[in-house]
Amino acid sequence: MSSAFEPHNIIVTGGCGFIGSNFVRWVAQNHPEVHVTVLDKLTYAGNPENIAGLPESQVELVVGDICDADLLDRIVPGHDAIVHYAAESHNDNSIRDPEPFVQTNVVGTYRLLEAVRKYGIRYHHVSTDEVYGDLALDEPRRFRPDDPYKPSSPYSSTKASSDLLVRAWARTYGIHATISNCSNNYGPYQHVEKFIPRQVTNILCGIRPKLYGTGENVRDWIHTEDHSRAVWDILTKGRIGETYLIGANGEKSNIEVLREILSLMGQPEDAFDWVRDRPGHDRRYAIDPTKLEEELGWRPIHTDFAEGLQQTIKWYEDHEGWWRPAKEATERKYAEQGQ
Ligand code: NAD
Ligand code: DAU
Repeated sequence: MSSAFEPHNIIVTGGCGFIGSNFVRWVAQNHPEVHVTVLDKLTYAGNPENIAGLPESQVELVVGDICDADLLDRIVPGHDAIVHYAAESHNDNSIRDPEPFVQTNVVGTYRLLEAVRKYGIRYHHVSTDEVYGDLALDEPRRFRPDDPYKPSSPYSSTKASSDLLVRAWARTYGIHATISNCSNNYGPYQHVEKFIPRQVTNILCGIRPKLYGTGENVRDWIHTEDHSRAVWDILTKGRIGETYLIGANGEKSNIEVLREILSLMGQPEDAFDWVRDRPGHDRRYAIDPTKLEEELGWRPIHTDFAEGLQQTIKWYEDHEGWWRPAKEATERKYAEQGQ
């Protein structure tokens, strides 16, 4: 069934995080006719500054927890869709303490699905390619939507669980839902715990970048703005009940990415430390985006990774006031775990 959906008043959960805030800014710029209610708990990863300056008549922030059913009963009526980004999103945190991941990613999604069922509105579920597990480094195959779920970490297993809830609610209760699974995002406003911002801000602080394991692990990088456009296309043109994979043919090993950062920031190519590997570290992710491209006509715009990386580095150079408050505590946590 094709949805051809025209949203007017949407809820974006996690709209003060990295990718959610990019989506909110993208909607504000490209669809001024759409009102956005951001529902965000403002955890350590949520920052209202990420959506500051957007027109108040268009973007409203409600600070609250997606697990709070009474709150959902108060705010969901009157909206025509939920775009669900809110999550505990960092693998390393999930290894240290899985509980908030189960709570927010699984229970939180369950609460949203129940609200969607009760109020009969559209739902788009933002998920990750990590639900498919990992690929061998030399394997020609890439992830496809119907691949079996084989998540490795507490984080990815809770995201996989949430996807399965969505599939079940769509089949059993007939909710109007779509799912997207995207690869690794980069761009402005990403928390300093994540790979690229961590290394960039380390260099800016005079700390040596840290590479896990052998550095051969491969991630499939996509600019977060390309992700936002894809989510919009799926929300408005995607087929109900379908899963779309989002990726921009951006496979690179971690050591390649780190060497590009070092070079762009004028550092010697060996100016980094090898550190303890992540337990259960997925080797390689790679997305086959054919379904999204052929059905919905989506194509990435940010196809030059070096250029996107350069712009991202510049953003961190220009926004020290944004990342500095989180930097010390983040590095202290990493140091405690030998990373
Ligand atoms: P993030 O950690 O930067 O932001 C998460 C946001 O969710 C924060 O604003 C936080 O305050 C909010 N939040 C957390 N728990 C909440 C709760 N219980 N109630 C309400 N709000 C809550 O995450 P991100 O990297 O922007 O990822 C956003 C989504 O995209 C996640 O669902 C993630 O699984 C998915 N995703 C991320 C990537 C990536 O590369 N970062 C790739 C594919 C998919
Ligand atoms: O694939 C999509 C996923 O991408 C999202 O679902 C997650 O929310 C997002 O965090 C990201 O997960 P990764 O675990 O791939 O991202 P992270 O930035 O934590 O790490 C990227 C790679 O870099 C990974 O192979 C681990 C490695 N790494 C990471 C850090 C923080 C290092 O070598 N050194 C580091 O300091």
